[in-house]
Amino acid sequence: MNTEYLLADQPLQLERAAQLLIAGKLVAVPTETVYGLAADASNPEAVARIFKAKGRPANHPLIVHIAHPDDMHKWAEQIPTAAFKLAEHFWPGPLTLLLKKAAHVNASVTGGEPNIALRIPAHPIMQTLLRMTKLGLAAPSANPYQQLSPTQAKHVAAGLNEKIDAILDGGSCSIGMESTILDLTHSQARILRTGPITASTIARCLGQDIAQPQQHTVAISGNKQQHYQPRKPLRILDTEQLLSQLRQTSQRVALVFHSQRLQSRLTKQAIEQQAAANAHSSFVYRHAPRDKAGYAQALYSTLHELDALNIDAIWIERPPQTPEWSDVNDRLQRAASRD
Ligand code: TXA
Ligand code: MG
Repeated sequence: MNTEYLLADQPLQLERAAQLLIAGKLVAVPTETVYGLAADASNPEAVARIFKAKGRPANHPLIVHIAHPDDMHKWAEQIPTAAFKLAEHFWPGPLTLLLKKAAHVNASVTGGEPNIALRIPAHPIMQTLLRMTKLGLAAPSANPYQQLSPTQAKHVAAGLNEKIDAILDGGSCSIGMESTILDLTHSQARILRTGPITASTIARCLGQDIAQPQQHTVAISGNKQQHYQPRKPLRILDTEQLLSQLRQTSQRVALVFHSQRLQSRLTKQAIEQQAAANAHSSFVYRHAPRDKAGYAQALYSTLHELDALNIDAIWIERPPQTPEWSDVNDRLQRAASRD
């Protein structure tokens, strides 16, 4: 299949993307979190094609993107008041709400689950598409199953070219990390996937505790241990551990630093390493932004870039372990998992 490349800032090309979606085609679209692989959520054949293009098992449900909080009634029932309160505070934005699926909604989009995940995205292009198509748009991250999420159109092309109808290029995603998923189908709200909106922020809005189980049985693909993976093996190392491993390795390693301590010591370290004539080893390195939002925004794009280099491994200096960083640490830990 020939994948059309469309520019979101060209009105006719944006219109083309909307027409393709209305016709049941697959279009990768920008959102503020990551690029999504969108299709008409009410069209079971279009939904089936999402699973096929990604190579994703059919029992891994999709998020449905909607235009307005009232649209929750089109897809869900028995909606708790907390959902409207959260919608008012956090939508449009990187929060996905899990609600009881409305009986008429085709179960293909929820992978057979009785619940449905809904989100209003903040990206203006995605909002325009939702208005133009008047559809609910099912959209998982636009990457092959278990691989790195895309934050630029070129990342989508690298993974899904020829497998989807079009890619709508809307530039880089501003958040760069998938939405927080909050389950509202039980009396106590619980986080199913950590994300840019933290449990404590949600707890403050609702005035109640939010459960954040480390392990839960809800079948979500992002909950699998191996996920968000680059092709090259990825390791997360503490600062000192990273320095000592560097002295010993004979690999070609791509490094991602965070701390200033490492940044100031490493150049010297690398020179010593080369001087020790460990001829087979070599390094490239990137300084990750120090603030959480900047780090998250750059993370996938850095990993995509390093993964494409002629290297043996990616080593990442362990970022801070505070609640604010929990989504970054969650994704890194899964990216590093080889079990
Ligand atoms: O930021 C995001 O959420 C992005 C953008 C495109 O909106 N989407 C995204 O979708 O990350 P995806 O499919 O890559 O991850 C969504 C996660 C999956 O792990 C899926 O299993 C879970 O949400 N999920 C979706 N619907 C669900 C449902 N009905 N029950 C349980 N989990 C669900
Ligand atoms: Mg995904």
